[in-house]
Amino acid sequence: MFLSSGDLVADRRFDFARDLQLKGDLVAAADLLLQATELAPGFASAWFTLGEIREQLGERDAAIKAFRKAQVADPQDRHGASLRLMRLGAEPLADMPQGYVRALFDQYAPKFESALVGDLGYRGPALLFKAVLAARAAVRKPAFFKSAIDLGCGTGLAAAAFARNVDRFTGIDLSPRMIEKARLTGLYAELEVTDMLQGLRGRGDASADLILAADAMVYVADLAPVLAEASRVLASGGLLAFTAETHGDDGVILGERLRYAHGAAYVGGAVETAGLNVSLLENRSARNEDHAPVPGLVAVAAKA
Ligand SMILES: C[S@@+](CC[C@H](N)C(=O)[O-])C[C@H]1O[C@@H](n2cnc3c(N)ncnc32)[C@H](O)[C@@H]1O
Repeated sequence: MFLSSGDLVADRRFDFARDLQLKGDLVAAADLLLQATELAPGFASAWFTLGEIREQLGERDAAIKAFRKAQVADPQDRHGASLRLMRLGAEPLADMPQGYVRALFDQYAPKFESALVGDLGYRGPALLFKAVLAARAAVRKPAFFKSAIDLGCGTGLAAAAFARNVDRFTGIDLSPRMIEKARLTGLYAELEVTDMLQGLRGRGDASADLILAADAMVYVADLAPVLAEASRVLASGGLLAFTAETHGDDGVILGERLRYAHGAAYVGGAVETAGLNVSLLENRSARNEDHAPVPGLVAVAAKA
């Protein structure tokens, strides 16, 4: 993510600083970035990169100061400075800035499927499909759904996995570029560029019989509001199925890779608080990082 300062000289200082950072000369890079911010005090990319370098140098207080400047310089927080502040313990855990998620996935959209499915062995949609089949089989009901909502639909991989079992798919995603890709699949009757909670709020009571979220809850800190809306939107007998990343403890943490990990007890508790019954909650990894499976959960919840 690079946001020009609008000042050619400051932008050039930034480019040199990035080269130095990549070569490992962090002190010189920080010096150049300070010069860039003197020339252009509202230069969000320079403040953010300075924050990263201060952190790499072990200068926590200076890193916090720089990340705060980046936040002020770009109120949409497209770099995700607030996430870095959460990781540094300078801000309480909160939801991801929408501007950050949108910028991340708009940039990622052209190479999303090759990077995720190819490089990281992504298997979230297949896990959800298997879990939904198992949950239906357990209650001796067929796994066919009239109306499904795909939260954080991305390029449409979950709709592809369920295509033969769903009559009408709606996709909701924050990233317009991901939605463009989803549209090209022809799998969705309706696509909406919005936050998943807002998208659900716009739906009628009992209007869907399946809600999916494949690798999307990792961008939501507090699951309670989304699960409560999902519960309202599901028809009686309907299912909510989602993947999550998890960790050894309970509660919610923001991991090193800036994705939230939800403890299994937290997920089970949040599902029940939303008025849904846990049909299935299993440890399953949806993707690899550094050639090892990332600890994950697959959850299926049913509306009574
Ligand atoms: C890792 S991708 C997964 C996409 C797709 N579900 C799949 O399985 O391939 C996560 C998607 O969730 C979307 N997303 C993240 N937070 C969101 C939110 N609060 N509301 C709507 N979409 C969100 C992102 O834009 C991105 O397209």
